[in-house]
Amino acid sequence: MAEIAIVADPAAGGELAADEIAAACARRPDTVLGVPTGTSARSTWQALEERHGLDMSWMRVFALGEYVGLPAGHPASALASIDREIVAPLRMDPGRVHVPYHVGEDPREAPLWFERDLDAAGGVDVQLLGIGTTGHIGFNEPGSSLTSTTRLKTLHPTTRANHAQYFDHPDQVPVHCVTQGLGTIGRAQQLILLAWGEEKALALAAAVEGPVTSARPGSVIQLHRNALVIADEAAASMLIHADYYRFAWDHRDDVVRIPPHRMSA
Ligand code: GLP
Repeated sequence: MAEIAIVADPAAGGELAADEIAAACARRPDTVLGVPTGTSARSTWQALEERHGLDMSWMRVFALGEYVGLPAGHPASALASIDREIVAPLRMDPGRVHVPYHVGEDPREAPLWFERDLDAAGGVDVQLLGIGTTGHIGFNEPGSSLTSTTRLKTLHPTTRANHAQYFDHPDQVPVHCVTQGLGTIGRAQQLILLAWGEEKALALAAAVEGPVTSARPGSVIQLHRNALVIADEAAASMLIHADYYRFAWDHRDDVVRIPPHRMSA
């Protein structure tokens, strides 16, 4: 099950996530980073940008999903937003960015190539995730198989409404996308799920404390051995065991300070 860090605000949470990414980058400069689009990871990118001297130019980036049906270069596409919000400010290499669909490809074929590229890269080392109000991670809407791989999906009307902010008109939000599957996401070495604000509270509680079910796709993180959930107070407000998570987080390093004779008593 996940470790759960409840933080004061997205900036503090972004610092925590940035610590994990910087540590992975220090271990291996060509770390494979899985990235969401949207707002949840923005404070992480901000925190990384302020870590001068951190060289992320060797990192490889795999997107969680891409819309199908937008014109090439559309500013709301995952490719354009990753370039604008992550690759350019963090001085990453645009040639090392992979999205699961490009304009002009067959959206039923492209996922196969994406999975092959991901395998060839050795899989994702650190996968950042946001959670949608429908409970999705990536674009795995309710009903997604817990073992699914990258594939064509239909966006939930609620997700389309949430994404209307990125388009001139709500009707322009695509109906389809290609997304990494829940099984694909689960193969990452480490998951970091970020959730901010009251509107995420229900989806986060269902993901963290509800049953593992395809009706709540985010709940698949409960099956992962190395998942870190970072939430602000508002997003954590519906967690039944929030006090325990705070206590456990505050004491997470204590065990190294317990003298050996006490450990064996
Ligand atoms: C979107 C994306 C996810 C994102 C999530 C939450 O639909 N497919 O990658 O993490 O929904 O979005 P936001 O962070 O903007 O709330």
